[in-house]
Amino acid sequence: MTVQKYNIWYTFGFLTMSILVFQESSAWRMFHLGRARGGNLGVPRSDDGGPLPNALWFDQTLDHFDHLDVRTWSQRYFVNDTFWERGGPVFLMIGGEGPANAMWMKTGSWIDYARSHKALCFLLEHRYYGKSHPTPDLKVKNLRWLSSEQALADLASFITAMNEVYSVPAGTRWVAFGGSYPGSLAAWLRAKYPHLVHASVSTSGPLLAKADFKEYYDVVWDSLASQSPECVSTLVAATSQIEALTRTKKGLSELQTLFKLCEPLNTTSNNKIDELDLAAFFETLAGNLAGIVQYSGDNREFEGAKGVNITIPVACSVLQNSSLGAPVRRVATLNSLLLTAYNTSCLDYTYKSTIQQLRDYSWSAAVAEGGRQWMWQTCTEFGFYQTSSGKPDLLGNYFPLEYFVRQCADVFGPRYNGTLLQHAIDQTNIEYGGLAVDTSRVVFVHGSVDPWHALGITHTLLPKCPAIYIKGTAHCANMYPAAPSDLPQLKAARKMIDSLLTQWLS
Ligand SMILES: *[C@@H]1O[C@H](CO)[C@@H](O)[C@H](O)[C@H]1NC(C)=O
Ligand SMILES: *[C@@H]1O[C@H](CO)[C@@H](O)[C@H](O)[C@H]1NC(C)=O
Ligand SMILES: *[C@@H]1O[C@H](CO)[C@@H](O)[C@H](O)[C@H]1NC(C)=O
Ligand SMILES: *[C@@H]1O[C@H](CO)[C@@H](O)[C@H](O)[C@H]1NC(C)=O
Ligand SMILES: *[C@@H]1O[C@H](CO)[C@@H](O)[C@H](O)[C@H]1NC(C)=O
Ligand SMILES: *[C@@H]1O[C@H](CO)[C@@H](O)[C@H](O)[C@H]1NC(C)=O
Repeated sequence: MTVQKYNIWYTFGFLTMSILVFQESSAWRMFHLGRARGGNLGVPRSDDGGPLPNALWFDQTLDHFDHLDVRTWSQRYFVNDTFWERGGPVFLMIGGEGPANAMWMKTGSWIDYARSHKALCFLLEHRYYGKSHPTPDLKVKNLRWLSSEQALADLASFITAMNEVYSVPAGTRWVAFGGSYPGSLAAWLRAKYPHLVHASVSTSGPLLAKADFKEYYDVVWDSLASQSPECVSTLVAATSQIEALTRTKKGLSELQTLFKLCEPLNTTSNNKIDELDLAAFFETLAGNLAGIVQYSGDNREFEGAKGVNITIPVACSVLQNSSLGAPVRRVATLNSLLLTAYNTSCLDYTYKSTIQQLRDYSWSAAVAEGGRQWMWQTCTEFGFYQTSSGKPDLLGNYFPLEYFVRQCADVFGPRYNGTLLQHAIDQTNIEYGGLAVDTSRVVFVHGSVDPWHALGITHTLLPKCPAIYIKGTAHCANMYPAAPSDLPQLKAARKMIDSLLTQWLS
C-alpha cells in the first residue's frame, strides 16, 4: 500500500470516486474502488536496513492465447536464493494490482516459512503494474491483454522457465502465495495449473466476481460497531447533518470549510447540487472509512507520512469525542486527520477530476501507479463495486451500482456499459468457479475486519482446501511480519499455515 513517498490506500476494489488526492500533479487518490494507492497489499515493515535484491527481467509473451501474435515484453521479478537447499521447494509470491516491492524478498511470514522449509523465493510483478509494461501506453486498445487469465498464463510460463534457469531439480514443488487480488490468483493458479503448482496460500482473496459488492460496507459497519456502537451512530447522525447543510448556500460553504474541499459543492440555477459531485463527495467520505477499516492495525510499513496510523480505535475515538462538536464536525476532524497524514492540503472529490485523471493513458500519469489498470479489471472482469446500497444509513445511498458503471463508460468509452460488465462477470465466475472453485492443497485465509472476506471462502467447504478465518484482523494481516502486538488468533493462523505447508511438502 504504499506508493512513492506516502502510502496510500488505493486498494483494490474500486471503491469510489474521489478520494484524497495530493495537490501535486502526481497526486492520485489514496483509496479508489477498494484499492489502496500502490495496491492492496502493503509493504512489510523491516528493521533490517540491508540492501534489497536487484530487479531481474523475464522475456514474457504478450498474448498467451493467440499463437500468431509472437510479441514479447520484459516482466520484472525478484529472487531470494539465500535459504534454498537442493530438495527444498520453490515459493512464488504473486504480484498484484500495484508495483512489486522488493521488501517482500526479505521479510513477511512467507520468508519465515521459506527459511524453515529451505525454499527458493520468487516474486513476479503483475503485467501492466509497476515496471512491467507490455505495451507503450495504457490506451483502451492496449489494455486488451490486461486480464487475470493472461496474468495466470504469465505465472505458468515463468514457473516453466525458472525451472530451467535455476536448474530446479525435477519433482521440486512450487507453492504460490498472494494477498488480496493475488490471493485470488494464487487459488486460481493452483486450480488451473495443478501440474506446475503443488499448493497455494490464498490470503484475503475475493473469489466471487460481483457487480454490486454491497456487503463491503456491511463489514465496515460491523467492524466500526464492534469497536463502539456510538462510532456508527455518529456517522448516521453526521449524514443527516451533511444532507441538511447541502440544502442552503450557507451550509454548502460551511461544508467546504469543514471538509477542506478543493472545490465547493455548487448549486445550479434551480438550486440543485450536481448529483455526481454529491455522490463523489459521499463516496470519498465512505472511502476514508473503508481505508481505515480495511487496514486497521495490520503490520504494514507506513512510508514517509507521519501519523498514518489511523486505526479503527483511533477513528472511533475521534467520532465519539463530543468535545469536538456535532457529529458532522467529528467526521470532518477525521477527514482532516487523514488529509494531514497523507500530506494533502484539500479534498479533491469531484467526479470530473477523478474521471479526468483516470482517462490519462500515459505510463507517466499518476493513475498509472495502478488506478487506471485496476479500474479496467473491475470494468471488464470483476465488478467488486463497493456501493452504498447495503448500508444506506451509514453515509446515504448516493453511490449505487449505476454510479460505478457510469465511471467505466466515462473512462473507457460507451461500450463499457452495464451489459458488458455483467457479461464479463458471468464469464469470470464460469472461468474460475466463484466460491465453488474445486481444487486441493489451497488454504484460504481471511480476517473478520477485512470487508473483502465477504467475497471469499471463510469456512472450510472442502477438506482438501481448509479455510482460516481470523477474528479481529484486517486485510492480509497474516502476510506481514509478526509483531509483539499481534492477536493470539493471528499468531495461531501463521502457525497453522506453516503446519499445512509442512504437511503438503512432506
Ligand atoms: C533473503 O532474505 C534474508 C532474510 O531477510 C536476507 O537476510 C537475505 O539477504 C535475502 N537474500 C537475498 C539474496 O536477497
Ligand atoms: C463550483 O463553482 C466554482 C466557481 O464557478 C468552480 O470553480 C467549481 O469548479 C465548481 N465546483 C464544482 C464541484 O463544480
Ligand atoms: C499503530 O497504533 C497501534 C495502537 O493503536 C500500535 O500498537 C502500533 O504500534 C502503531 N504502529 C505504528 C507504525 O506506529
Ligand atoms: C477530545 O477532543 C479534545 C479536543 O481536541 C481533546 O482535547 C481530548 O483529548 C479528546 N478526548 C479524547 C477522549 O480523545
Ligand atoms: C508535503 O507536500 C508539500 C507539497 O505539497 C511538500 O513540499 C512537502 O515536502 C511534503 N511533505 C512531506 C513530509 O512529504
Ligand atoms: C451496452 O452497449 C451495447 C452496444 O455496445 C448495447 O447493445 C447494450 O444495449 C448496452 N447496454 C446498456 C445497458 O445500455
